[in-house]
Amino acid sequence: MMFSITQLFLFVLSLKFVQSTPLAQRSTSYNQTLLPWERTSSTGYGTLTTQVQDNGAVLRVTINNPPINLYGVKLLNDMSQFLNSLVPGSTNVSTPAPKVVIFASALPGFWMSTTNPYDTATSNALFNLAVAAPALLRTLPTIFIAEIDGRATGSGNEFLVQCDMGFAGPDAIVGSLEVAIGGLEGNGGIQYVVRRLGMARAAEYLLSSASLDAETAAEVGWVNRAYKTSQQLTTSVNALASRIALFDAGALNATKTGIRANGPSSDQVAADIASILRLFPEEQVLLPKWLTLSQNLTANEFTLGALRSVGEVEKLYQ
Ligand SMILES: *[C@@H]1O[C@H](CO)[C@@H](O)[C@H](O)[C@H]1NC(C)=O
Ligand SMILES: *[C@@H]1O[C@H](CO)[C@@H](O)[C@H](O)[C@H]1NC(C)=O
Ligand SMILES: *[C@@H]1O[C@H](CO)[C@@H](O)[C@H](O)[C@H]1NC(C)=O
Ligand SMILES: *[C@@H]1O[C@H](CO)[C@@H](O)[C@H](O)[C@H]1NC(C)=O
Repeated sequence: MMFSITQLFLFVLSLKFVQSTPLAQRSTSYNQTLLPWERTSSTGYGTLTTQVQDNGAVLRVTINNPPINLYGVKLLNDMSQFLNSLVPGSTNVSTPAPKVVIFASALPGFWMSTTNPYDTATSNALFNLAVAAPALLRTLPTIFIAEIDGRATGSGNEFLVQCDMGFAGPDAIVGSLEVAIGGLEGNGGIQYVVRRLGMARAAEYLLSSASLDAETAAEVGWVNRAYKTSQQLTTSVNALASRIALFDAGALNATKTGIRANGPSSDQVAADIASILRLFPEEQVLLPKWLTLSQNLTANEFTLGALRSVGEVEKLYQ
């Protein structure tokens, strides 16, 4: 996760707010004709749309924030509003919340990209939302499945590895660019990459700021499985979600809670977030170069390369 220096200071000042300010108070209002977790392109900022499956027990959420699904102002707000709508007791509707949520992307080539520091610089509330979102993935009773058929890098990768599971299509690319840009995969990303890959492989890929294709990602456990076609990916994810959704919500929640007991402590995650603050001088030098080379994180040749070659990385240090 990468943020401007101004915002990081605001963040330090506002740490107490993270726990205490109800997110709903900061969110744009819902379209009242929909269930709280249902979204259309006219809801919020329109970066998430939903499709009900299995009579409402499964919800397919499609991320659509062109050109590269940046996890910036709009997507972060929409995502926070969505995740908070799933908090038990947070709404008065009698319809049960979906048991399984699938996150997919509407954009070819991108699942979810990192934050744009220019976006986040203006708002400490946004930093708080960014910190709070993965915590909801970890603690909500909902089962979250990432269906990836494009890039899941930086903050997008932090989001991926904190879902309950992930499946990849032929165009998936996962990885963290942060070390190359002077930062770290700090918002739970490091800890969950270690849980998925083990320490030695996490060291190999995180320290070299590597990005992995679908087959390699499946081989090392970054995702559960890779599929040869996008259609196989979607069909298989839907079948798995439908099966899980047959089962008792209490059994699913208790099992998820038991699995999550093997995750890192919140102190470990907090220590990584503290490192983001400590490392910021390096990021201040490298971030502007990264933004220039990527033309402010549009889908240019550099961004599409996802720092895959040594030559691309060297450009940041020249
Ligand atoms: C609310 O959602 C309904 C159904 O998708 C749509 O027809 C309507 O235009 C939306 N209203 C607003 C104010 O966005
Ligand atoms: C639920 O309804 C009660 C009683 O009408 C109300 O006080 C409360 O604010 C509502 N909660 C939400 C989250 O809408
Ligand atoms: C989920 O399970 C945990 C552990 O049993 C429990 O503490 C928590 O209240 C449960 N949540 C819901 C929404 O039932
Ligand atoms: C990138 O964004 C900055 C700040 O908004 C702007 O000054 C600059 O011109 C933009 N660069 C490109 C290549 O779009």
